[in-house]
Amino acid sequence: MKMKELLLFLSCVLSVSADVLHEELYIIGCSDSYGEVMFGLDGEEKRYADFNKQTEVDVLPPFAGPISCPGCYDIAVANLQVCKKNLQIAHKALKDFPLERDAPSAVMIYTRDEVEVGEKNTLICHVTGFYPAPVNVSWTKNGEKVTEGTSINVPYINKDGSFTQISRLQFTPQLGDIYSCAVEHLALTQPITKIYEVEASQSAPGVGPAVFCGVGLTVGLLGVAAGTFFLIKGNECS
Ligand SMILES: *[C@@H]1O[C@H](CO)[C@@H](O)[C@H](O)[C@H]1NC(C)=O
Repeated sequence: MKMKELLLFLSCVLSVSADVLHEELYIIGCSDSYGEVMFGLDGEEKRYADFNKQTEVDVLPPFAGPISCPGCYDIAVANLQVCKKNLQIAHKALKDFPLERDAPSAVMIYTRDEVEVGEKNTLICHVTGFYPAPVNVSWTKNGEKVTEGTSINVPYINKDGSFTQISRLQFTPQLGDIYSCAVEHLALTQPITKIYEVEASQSAPGVGPAVFCGVGLTVGLLGVAAGTFFLIKGNECS
């Protein structure tokens, strides 16, 4: 890990509409070993520049339709160059500038959909509260490393200046399978690991909810009956 790593993040609120408040975010960020250019909206990523694949990536869900952005990738590359230049200048100007380091304040693992054994689902590893970006997230299934079907968002900046990143793993739950996500960050001496186990109780929708609903309905109807009784009684007296 580089000790002299320095990070610059510029972000701005591009537009705030008057009646319904939405927050659009444009992030240009760089460190010695990392760069990011991303558009976000209300805490979600809309599109980002993938500097490995050298293309702009649209991450809107299919119903939102693809938004073409000709020239966006080139603009992102240019902005990243400016960021790296500024970073070099800052390095020179602020010799031995101490880098703030905050380990992730929370790591959570959960499934996107309710678990049905044998039905495709997505495991989510949600990492937040860290600085600087990024984190590395790795997955295991029953102790074996998994890379296929994994993906990770570019870092999203939080209101307090820390970052959030979300890693996903496509999986098909089978009883007894144990998954883990391990998070590495500059401020951690060892990874934070969270475990997810596919358990029988999650897949069998028990009688609990039906009984609960039945009892609730009965009590409700009794209440209506009692109310009606007293209403009639009350009217008789007056
Ligand atoms: C993340 O992984 C890359 C590549 O393996 C490594 O160079 C980097 O130091 C790792 N970052 C952290 C924070 O552990």
